[in-house]
Amino acid sequence: MCGIIGYLGGREATPILMESLKRLEYRGYDSAGVAVLEQPTAGQAIRTSVTKSEAKVDMLIEKLEANMPSGKLGIGHTRWATHGKPTYINAHPHTDCHGKIFVVHNGIIENFAELKAELEAEGHEFPSETDTEVVPHLIEKYYKGDFLAAVRAALKRIKGAYALAMFSSEDPELLVGARLNAPLVVGLGEKEYYIASDITAIIPYTKRVLVLGEGEVAAVTPLGAEVSTLDGVTVKSKVVHVDWDVAQAQKGGYDHFMLKEIHESDDAVANAMRGRLTDDGSVSFREFDVPDEQLRDITDVLLLGMGTSLHAAMIGEYVIEDWAGIPARAEDASEFRYRRPTVGNKTLDVVITQSGETADTLVALHQARERGALSVAVTNVIASSAARDADGAIYLHSGPEIGVASTKTLLAHTVSLFLLALRLASVNGRVSLERRQELVEALRALPEQVRMLLEREEEIFALADKYSGYRNFMYAGRGLGYTVALEGALKLKEISYVHAEGTSGGLLKHGPIALLDEQFPVVAICTVSATKDKMVSNVHEIVARNAPVLALVTEGDRSLDGVATDVFVMPAVEEAASVILNTVMLQLFAYRIGVKLGQDVDQPRNLAKSVTVE
Ligand code: F6R
Repeated sequence: MCGIIGYLGGREATPILMESLKRLEYRGYDSAGVAVLEQPTAGQAIRTSVTKSEAKVDMLIEKLEANMPSGKLGIGHTRWATHGKPTYINAHPHTDCHGKIFVVHNGIIENFAELKAELEAEGHEFPSETDTEVVPHLIEKYYKGDFLAAVRAALKRIKGAYALAMFSSEDPELLVGARLNAPLVVGLGEKEYYIASDITAIIPYTKRVLVLGEGEVAAVTPLGAEVSTLDGVTVKSKVVHVDWDVAQAQKGGYDHFMLKEIHESDDAVANAMRGRLTDDGSVSFREFDVPDEQLRDITDVLLLGMGTSLHAAMIGEYVIEDWAGIPARAEDASEFRYRRPTVGNKTLDVVITQSGETADTLVALHQARERGALSVAVTNVIASSAARDADGAIYLHSGPEIGVASTKTLLAHTVSLFLLALRLASVNGRVSLERRQELVEALRALPEQVRMLLEREEEIFALADKYSGYRNFMYAGRGLGYTVALEGALKLKEISYVHAEGTSGGLLKHGPIALLDEQFPVVAICTVSATKDKMVSNVHEIVARNAPVLALVTEGDRSLDGVATDVFVMPAVEEAASVILNTVMLQLFAYRIGVKLGQDVDQPRNLAKSVTVE
């Protein structure tokens, strides 16, 4: 759960590493470091300059600006600690006993303890507590004058997950990258090359990337990048052209990435539909092009995800059952992977992961596939592990999401699942043409409805300001509104550190209601749905316990006037569309409370954008 970057080319490496690390900070940000191979001046031996900081990248940048190493080859790292605390000594890059080999790493080396014991017995010394440090020492052990061969020999000994960028001062024109169960791309510039955890880090420099496969090694020299297996067999990698631009990855005038990304929700919703939906509700997915007969055979749908993506999975569960009439279940991937899952070869396994790299989701995907399920990854990242490992992919096309909290990608996930439900419903004939047309109309109206809601930002912020003094919140909803409640609560707690929990309206009486008093407000999702009247009854019960209520209601519905403390009026839309609008409203509400409380909403404490370890 770290960001890595490597550069080899004709320009000064340090400023490039600094900039790239800034863009990678969303992957982890508890400490950072760079190693730059310095140009030797006449008569001097080649040397590597290492600069580290035990805090965020900004502190590293300050140090580098004060003392800028000069060289054309370097590697950098921003860390999210797994083994060993975020200290100076544990910050990457790590090196061997002689300070010649330098390594940055993302992932976890599962057998590091036994490798470390073996190497220590042979005289290697390990100043840090990290698992990573075994890598340079193992390479040192196998080094017989050929750095690449030593890297391959070392990596064959390693179990677990790694994305690595490495160099040796003995081989000053070689930068090596390698990956296993962790993402890594090689950027191809004009006579210059990059190795990075993902594309976001390098888009200002190049839009052409090679995506490394599992267990592959990239050897980058001034002559080009060559990819091979650990056995040295050359691999012909595909060059992908990425159409993101630099401005997309920057804040675009907003105070925070999170706010900018919420404001991109209308586009995210539109992009998830683009080119996929016809007027009569037929849906096609280019990278998940499964014949109707095969889909007609599907007996059940399993939706897997974590965090916000699990909430998207729950939305998928509701609409697939409702529209397509196929049994569907949303599962926490981290639990699913340790159960004895009942999945068969007529199951459709839908994995929901914006990053495409969430470790638990990937393992659960592999397990469902092993049992013969047809699988599809709904993801924002082209050629991510989930997209490559599943039978097909439904890409969100949302552009990069830098804020750690998922916002626009959840909306794109939701729309994608609506489309998938429609696709299943149209092949099995469960939904009439008229109903499909109604749903298409509702979906097509969404981007404009989201835009209009975003224009009401000040109204939402005023409500958030009013509620920002409370230390506890309950979010309650029913049906699709229950998923909105769970997500509203997650968003608030993760970016403001205010306690919040989500409950179904039905569950409320079975425990959570005991918490309520005048200091414990409830956000009640009371927009149009089959169970709206039951939510209204819930609000009466809540008010009777003196808890303040902020209710989301549909325009024209006056049933909570004078009952709820505050009402926020939503347009009259299809229930499915209301999930999108209610979610955007609650994202803005949570954002404002987080900002009001002075929290770092883009990089909340203890979290990272992509959780690539269990
Ligand atoms: C919350 C959030 C996380 C992610 C979760 C899964 O705002 O972002 O809960 O949803 O870590 O991530 P992906 O979707 O990348 O698998």
